[in-house]
Amino acid sequence: MTPVERVTSGWRSAPIAIFGLALLILLAGVGVIIQNEWTYDHARVEQTQALSDILAATTAAAVDFDDPAAAQQAVDGFRMNKQVRRIAVYRRDGRVMAGYKRDGTPLRPTLATMRPPGANVIRVKSPIVQAGQRIGTVTLDIDREAPFRRLSRYFVLAGLFVLAALVVASIGLAQAQLRRANRELGSRAEALAQANVLLEEQMEERAKAEDQLRQSQKMQALGQLTGGIAHDFNNQLTVIQGSADILTRPELPDEKRIRFAQAIVQSATNAASLTSQLLAFARRQPLKPERIDLNDLIREMRDLLDRTMGERIRIVTDLYKLPCRVEADRAQLQSAILNIASNARDAMKDGGTLTIRTRDAGEGQDGKPLVALAIEDTGEGMSPEVLDRIFEPFFTTKRTGKGTGLGLSQVYGFATQSGGEVEVDSKPGEGSTITLVLPCIDADALAEAEAPEPEASDQPPARILVVEDNEDVGAFAETLLSELGHQVTRASSGEEALDIARRTEFDVVLSDVVMPGMGGLKLAEVLGREQPELPVVLATGYSQEIVESGSGGRPVILKPYRLATLSEALAGAMRR
Ligand SMILES: Nc1ncnc2c1ncn2[C@@H]1O[C@H](COP(=O)(O)OP(=O)(O)OP(=O)(O)O)[C@@H](O)[C@H]1O
Ligand SMILES: [Mg+2]
Repeated sequence: MTPVERVTSGWRSAPIAIFGLALLILLAGVGVIIQNEWTYDHARVEQTQALSDILAATTAAAVDFDDPAAAQQAVDGFRMNKQVRRIAVYRRDGRVMAGYKRDGTPLRPTLATMRPPGANVIRVKSPIVQAGQRIGTVTLDIDREAPFRRLSRYFVLAGLFVLAALVVASIGLAQAQLRRANRELGSRAEALAQANVLLEEQMEERAKAEDQLRQSQKMQALGQLTGGIAHDFNNQLTVIQGSADILTRPELPDEKRIRFAQAIVQSATNAASLTSQLLAFARRQPLKPERIDLNDLIREMRDLLDRTMGERIRIVTDLYKLPCRVEADRAQLQSAILNIASNARDAMKDGGTLTIRTRDAGEGQDGKPLVALAIEDTGEGMSPEVLDRIFEPFFTTKRTGKGTGLGLSQVYGFATQSGGEVEVDSKPGEGSTITLVLPCIDADALAEAEAPEPEASDQPPARILVVEDNEDVGAFAETLLSELGHQVTRASSGEEALDIARRTEFDVVLSDVVMPGMGGLKLAEVLGREQPELPVVLATGYSQEIVESGSGGRPVILKPYRLATLSEALAGAMRR
C-alpha cells in the first residue's frame, strides 16, 4: 500500500457519515420547528380559552337576567381585539343572545346550527355558570396566525439549520473530491512508475544497441583500414617483386638493372611513407621535435606550395607576428600543411584562392601559449556527413587511385601527438578552413642555442657491433656497412651483444630496440655504465618504450633506413 493509499483508506466512509450528519441536522431543525409550532398552538388555545372563560364570567349576570343588551355590551368589549373572528353568547336552551361576527354577517340563531370552524380558526367554548348551574355557553373563534407569519417566525431558524447542513454537506463534497483526486493521484503515480520502468528498459536497450553499433562501426573501420593497407602495400610490393624478378635475370643490361633497382627503391620509399602516415595517425610515430617559427616555415614552403597548387589557384598569406615558436617534427608539420593544401587544391577544381593565416590562439588548458595556422580555401566545401568522417584513415570521396584517405588522418595524428588539435569549419559551397592549433614555446625560452646539425662526411673505417634479432635485417645492415668499408660484427640478442662487447673493442654499437630478452634500451643502459665512451645508436620501426620514455639522449634512426641515414647517424654518434 502506498502512503497516499494508506491516508485515503481511513477516509473512505467519511462522506456517507457527513451526508448522514447533514440530514440529521436538517431533521433536527424540522423537529425543533414542529415542536415549537405545537407549543405555540397549544398556548394560543389556552389563551383563547382564558378569554372565553373571562367572557363567560362577565356575561353570567346578563344571561341570568336575560338581558341581551348587557350581554352585547360585554361582548362588544372584545371588538378591539382584531384577531377575534366571531364571538357569541347562548342561553341555556342554545339560542343566541348576543355576539358578533368580524365580517358583519349575522350569527346563526342556535348553538346547534353553528358552522364548524375553518382550518385557520381556533374555536373554544366556555360554560356560563351561576350558582353552580349552567345557564348558557360562550363560543369564541380566533384566527390562527397566518401561515406566512408563522413561516417568517421560523425563517431564520430554518435558515441556520439549512446553512449548517450545507456547511456539513459541502465539507462532505470537498472530501469526496479530495478522495477522488487522491485516487487519481495514486493511479497517476502508478502509471508514472510503470512509465519509468519502461523508460529504464528502453534506455538499457538503447545502450545495448549503441554498443552494438559502436562495435560494428569499429569492425567496419578496421576492415576499411586493413583493406586500405593491404591495397596500397600490394601495389608497392607488386613493383618491388616484379622488379626483383627481372633483376635476377643474368642477361639484363646494366642500364635496365639500374632502372629496376631505382623502381624498387621508389616503391620501398612509398611503402615507408605509408607506414609512417599510419603510425602518425596512430600517434605512434617517434617524433623529432624542433623549434620552428611557423611564419618562416610557410615562407620556406612558398615555392613548394605554389608548385603543388598549380596556376589556377592564387595563394595569399596573412602572417601575424607570432610571440613564440612551435615545437614539432618539421617533416611531419610540412607534410600536414601539404596534405591540407592538396585537399584544398582538389576542392577548387576551377581555381580559387588559398589563404594561409597564422595567429596567436591564446592559451591552452595547461596554460601553454597556442598558435594557430589556418588554411582556407574557396572550394566546394563539405557536407556534414563527410565532415564527420574526414579524420578516419582511408576515408576518401576521391575516385580510386586519386586519394588514399590518409592525408587528414596524418594531420590529425600529428596535431594530437604534438599536443595540439585540428579544427575544421566547412559548409557545402562555402569553402573550408582547416586550422592547426599547436602549443608553442615562449620566445625568451629560445635563448638556449640549438646545436647545429653535424655535416655528414665520409668516415674512416670503424669497428661496428650490429645487434639485430631479425636475420634478414641484420644481414642487410652488415652488407650496407661493409659496403662503406666498416668492420662489422653481428649479435642476434642483447645478451650476446653484451658478451661480445665485453671481450672485443668497438667504435660504435648499432642496436635494434625491440628484441626478445634484453632490448636495445636496456643494452645501451648497461653498456653506458660499463663503457661510457662507447656510443650506441638505436634503430626501430616503432617502439612503445621510446615513445613513452625516450631514448635517454641516444640517437634513434627509423626503420626502414637508407644508407645515407645510417652512415650519418653512426658518424654523428662517433663524433660526440
Ligand atoms: N578542403 C577540403 N574541401 C573539401 N573536402 C575536403 C577538404 N579536405 C578534405 N576533404 C574531404 O575529406 C576527405 C578526406 O581527406 P584526406 O586528405 O584524409 O583524404 P584524401 O584527400 O581523399 O586522400 P589523400 O589525402 O590520402 O590523398 C576527402 O576525400 C574530401 O572528401
Ligand atoms: Mg588529402
